[in-house]
Amino acid sequence: MTEPITFPDGFVWGTATAAYQIEGAATEDGRGASIWDTFSHTPGAVRDGDTGDVACDHYHRYREDVGLMRELGIGAYRFSLAWPRLQPQGRGPLHPGGVGFYDRLLDELHAAGIRPWVTLYHWDLPQALEDAGGWPERDTALRFAEYAAAVHERFADRIPDWTTLNEPWCSAFLGYASGVHAPGRRDPAASLRAAHHLLLGHGLAVEAMRSTRPDLRYGITLNLYPTVAASADPADAEAARRVDGQSNRLFLDPLLAGRYPADVLADLEPIAGTAHIRDGDEKQIAVPLDVLGVNYYTRHVVRGGKPDEDFERDASWVLAPDVEKVRTGAPRTEMGWEIHPDGLYDTLVRVSRDYDAPPLFVTENGAAFADVVDADGRVRDQQRIDFLDGHFRAAARAIADGVDLRGYFVWSLMDNFEWAWGYARRFGLVHVDYATQQRTPKDSARWFAGVARANGITG
Ligand code: FCB
Repeated sequence: MTEPITFPDGFVWGTATAAYQIEGAATEDGRGASIWDTFSHTPGAVRDGDTGDVACDHYHRYREDVGLMRELGIGAYRFSLAWPRLQPQGRGPLHPGGVGFYDRLLDELHAAGIRPWVTLYHWDLPQALEDAGGWPERDTALRFAEYAAAVHERFADRIPDWTTLNEPWCSAFLGYASGVHAPGRRDPAASLRAAHHLLLGHGLAVEAMRSTRPDLRYGITLNLYPTVAASADPADAEAARRVDGQSNRLFLDPLLAGRYPADVLADLEPIAGTAHIRDGDEKQIAVPLDVLGVNYYTRHVVRGGKPDEDFERDASWVLAPDVEKVRTGAPRTEMGWEIHPDGLYDTLVRVSRDYDAPPLFVTENGAAFADVVDADGRVRDQQRIDFLDGHFRAAARAIADGVDLRGYFVWSLMDNFEWAWGYARRFGLVHVDYATQQRTPKDSARWFAGVARANGITG
């Protein structure tokens, strides 16, 4: 028996997905191509040559998937809208094919009593906009704001919670610096311009949406990492400053404090200059928010200086090319990410303490393990249960210490296309057999349903 814990009344429990990772139907009903279609079809880009062409076939099976959530008693569902379904070329009027699909999905959620929590951009930039230069171009921010305004005008009556971007750090640095995500470019200067234009697009989009419906809630989701120096050596402290600057403060400061952090700007100058940051941009980025989404998976332990075999370089840290990531001896998930529940506590407390932050939601947390379906049809994923249990407890401690945390979405509802890993990593509460599209709730799904029902862990 473990200690029971309870969350505040009204705490939101949900599961999360993203369009490209689950929908499939990549060319149906007028959908245009996105950078992930192009990237996943590029030989060598995604493990085993996997693509999102079919994925979980959610486009056709959404009724069954919503039914699963209803049976499990999950009250909220975070999902993303596919920009290339709604604007196949990244501009112009909304396409009826995409509008029809999201209308059907929202009808189904409404009938099941599940609250929709919508992300406008979870990485699937229309390929036409990448062809015009992508996020490193300022115009992409303007296109995003137009897309947001058009979608919001059509769906505002049905969607109370609007998230602009999911993890702009990944879009900018995995997409344009290390190139392990779409569009697969390796251009540090471009990645820094992309980060700025993503934030600018966010600010413009929130302003446009709020102008017509100030009664709805607007936010953004960031992936945040506590960043710890491996030792008291000043070189390690400097490494931690740079990585924290680029991973966390480069996004938190302009969004919540109205300006880029001076030390990060100084790091950035020799790489990309600062001419892309125009007068007024910081003010635009700092539009008031109703919600901040926090995605938490792991922490970074870093050191400066020369690598040896215990260290790995993270090529996405363009502002810290000489920094090495330390592999601690702690247990890891199948992604190789250190399991460190206290890091969620540290992250939530840090955001609340260092910033004038709006209410927080954990919009993603979860783990990949090598799940197997046993002969009796059950998936005994005790490791995932333990992982979530530890992180829920860390969240409860943060609340007890004064953090205004209002909800928690588990990544993910079901196994899906895990970006550069293709189908080789399973994050779901529900197992998906990709050959038959059969869904099987894992033990963790039932356990999570119990947590959501009890609004806590009963012991
Ligand atoms: C996050 C992404 C999400 C999923 C998880 C594992 O960075 O937002 O789509 O891939 O990682």
